[in-house]
Amino acid sequence: TRNPSLAVIPGDGIGPEVVGEALKVLTATVGENAFDITHYELGAQHWLETGEVLSDDTLAELAGKDALVLGAVGAAPGSTTIPSGLLERGLLLKLRFAFDQDVNLRPSIRYPGVTSPLSQAVLDKGPIDFVVVREGTEGLYAGNGGTLRAGTPQEIATEVSVNTAFGVERVVRYAFELATRRRNRLTLVHKHNVLVNAGGLWRRITEQVAEQFPQVHHDYLHVDAATISLVTDPQRFDVVVTDNLFGDILTDEAAAITGGIGLAPSANINTARTFPSMFEPVHGSAPDIAGKGIADPSAAISSMALLLRHLGREADAERIERAVAADIAERGTAARSTSQIGEAIVTRLG
Ligand code: NAD
Ligand code: IPM
Ligand code: MN
Repeated sequence: TRNPSLAVIPGDGIGPEVVGEALKVLTATVGENAFDITHYELGAQHWLETGEVLSDDTLAELAGKDALVLGAVGAAPGSTTIPSGLLERGLLLKLRFAFDQDVNLRPSIRYPGVTSPLSQAVLDKGPIDFVVVREGTEGLYAGNGGTLRAGTPQEIATEVSVNTAFGVERVVRYAFELATRRRNRLTLVHKHNVLVNAGGLWRRITEQVAEQFPQVHHDYLHVDAATISLVTDPQRFDVVVTDNLFGDILTDEAAAITGGIGLAPSANINTARTFPSMFEPVHGSAPDIAGKGIADPSAAISSMALLLRHLGREADAERIERAVAADIAERGTAARSTSQIGEAIVTRLG
């Protein structure tokens, strides 16, 4: 049997910094030659040099891999050299869509010892441990829209959210199944009081799928109210299922309450397993701290645990998760560099 093949796209900003540490931890876990790893230099620099974001040939090559690892792509929000969205849409979202990565899995765990902006009274309610199942291939991300009368006072800009019964059903079903392996609680988050078409579809499908999972208690929150519960009662959540944009926003908030964006991993899963899945931190290229060697690689490292679990290597996944948890528990407040954190986690793999 051949080794699993990994494509690694370090990307921009802190992407290469955190991916470097993630690969150190990965190889320390599985052994030096267990995976066939190929690096792809895609992102801002590649575009500036070649005018190309992602060629069809490269896409076809990536399609043959067993999994992808991504650091981050994107320029500083104020950049004038790289058009906003060029790399996000042309590379990151292109991969999520082309490889039909329907489930964007984003776990949020508050590890003991971590500093959180939540009040002590809220933290005292108990452990925080939930997963957001974010739909990954539809919604407002579908690229369905346009601009009329551009640049005039009459300009009209639209992005139309696409929600299909097929697309909603598969992530909702995934979320219910996940809940049965956790605490049997599922919360649908949407905004069906305003978004009556999409919200109605999500609600109906959730009710239909729920009938097949009688052991799972399910409820519903409008997304605005969900942002409140995240900071006042995060323990109420076990599995949260939601659309692409709500999931994007809620998972940055979820990261912030559980210790920061530098700790939050994610998996973009092609549930049909006909294409590779992609593993990446929730955070972006962080231009404000790029090149300083101070980015926290923990999110990228925890994403390697999600990768190993997806490839059926549960024991290896748990080794990484235990090492990250142990590092967080004892990190204290001393400032550490990206590589110091990576090395500390390698040491803790045991
Ligand atoms: P960001 O996540 O890059 O940064 C937000 C804040 O979090 C910044 O203050 C940053 O310094 C901090 N931060 C992020 N990761 C950190 C880490 N590992 N350790 C310590 N601090 C960390 O979000 P942004 O500033 O909105 O976006 C910057 C660029 O990244 C944009 O071009 C955006 O489109 C892109 N982006 C890419 C991805 C991705 O590739 N998956 C995700 C989000 C944003
Ligand atoms: C994320 C990012 C991306 C998203 C952007 C960069 C396209 O914010 O992975 O959370 O919105 O999905
Ligand atoms: Mn995001």
